[in-house]
Amino acid sequence: MEKLVIEGGRPLNGKIRVSGAKNACLPILAASILAEGKYTISNIPSLVDIRTMLSLLGEVGVETDRDGEVVQLNTVADNDAFTAPYELVKTMRASVLTLGPLLAKKGRAKVSLPGGCAIGERPVDQHLKALRLMGADIEVEHGYIDASCSRLKGAEITFDMVTVTGTENIMMAAALAEGKTVLYNAAQEPEVVDLAKFLKKMGAVISGEGSRTIVIEGVDRLESADYNVMADRIEAGTYLCAAAGAGGHLILENAPVYAMKAILDKLGETGLELKILDDSTIDIRSEKRLLGIDATTHPYPGFPTDMQAQFMAVMVKSRGISVITETIFENRFMHVSELKRMGADIRLMDKSAVIKGVKKLSAAPVMASDLRASASLVIAGLMAEGTTEVHRVYHLDRGYEKFDIKLAAAGAKIERVKE
Ligand code: EPZ
Repeated sequence: MEKLVIEGGRPLNGKIRVSGAKNACLPILAASILAEGKYTISNIPSLVDIRTMLSLLGEVGVETDRDGEVVQLNTVADNDAFTAPYELVKTMRASVLTLGPLLAKKGRAKVSLPGGCAIGERPVDQHLKALRLMGADIEVEHGYIDASCSRLKGAEITFDMVTVTGTENIMMAAALAEGKTVLYNAAQEPEVVDLAKFLKKMGAVISGEGSRTIVIEGVDRLESADYNVMADRIEAGTYLCAAAGAGGHLILENAPVYAMKAILDKLGETGLELKILDDSTIDIRSEKRLLGIDATTHPYPGFPTDMQAQFMAVMVKSRGISVITETIFENRFMHVSELKRMGADIRLMDKSAVIKGVKKLSAAPVMASDLRASASLVIAGLMAEGTTEVHRVYHLDRGYEKFDIKLAAAGAKIERVKE
């Protein structure tokens, strides 16, 4: 195992380039199951979760090859493998994104039931409800989802809550179904829109993506296609928080500004100096103590749950009180106890964390628990006096490409060492 050792109290100064969006790459890679042939997908970050998805595709007849940020896929014809095994699914819940494509293309899918994770139980009942409405026979036994259907039929589906991968799974399944599917209460995340754009390049007939109602007209077959994946708005927001917390002057390049309005507005409320130089470049100056402000997470276009932990780290040293409310996941405050060990003044009250800004944080050894909590602890390490050690850094490597290297290149004193 590895840990990050961070010498805090140094401002960031320099440039950071944002990588491709993990949460757009994963469904887009899974969509290659839907059509035989060759694909060139670019702007793919080098992440553990991407490697897991590529291994999963290899199990179901998609040959993969990677060269830097470009992945070549070749979906072989007449491959009848349809199982996403426990060994892979247990390491990444997003493996459930193979369920819709496998069922739609092969009429069978056997996908290990994704377990919960640190932030919550994370059931997939909405995915199964929708597929059953489309005519699938689904058994859940021995820890596997076992689904079959000769050909899915279009249906009108209302999700009980906004679900990102639920919307993506059913959009992919509906692309090859017979007839029209309408998704109500659909997710509007930019990553859902990026997937829809890719599916349309493959020949899918989709409208309404980016709104709460998506209409998919099923077609008999799709074609392989090439695609350049959108940049990662959460990675970009994470670096904005790092600069806000550590201070200094950062230029963020290749950022998807169009998809970051809630993040930019929220950080702007704190008094952070933000200048949008063009549609992918953000200039951040953080020279004064920021104002404590409230934040509540919501589905897009609201303030993202994936930014909650990172934003909390910034608020820990702000002026005044900040109330951060998490409405999406039931257990996404794992970073709070670790931040308190560094001197943060935080009280949990039901779904909210009440943060009273302190003047200084003191470095401490802390433990990462999930992807975004790890990023939050790194940001706190940049803000603290002394040397912070963040343990179990593998959580970070699932979703951030070269996190320590990018921060070091912008002036942070941070290194990765073996535990
Ligand atoms: C996606 O997860 C993201 N992952 C998550 O990012 C992100 O936090 C989440 O959306 C919310 O924005 C990927 O896109 C790969 P949901 P997903 O289904 O789709 C409940 C990260 O850090 N729900 O939108 O799994 C669920 O429990 C990760 O990159 C059901 O009850 O999340 C949660 O409370 C973490 N039944 C809420 O809905 C279902 O069938 C939203 O979950 C589905 C979801």
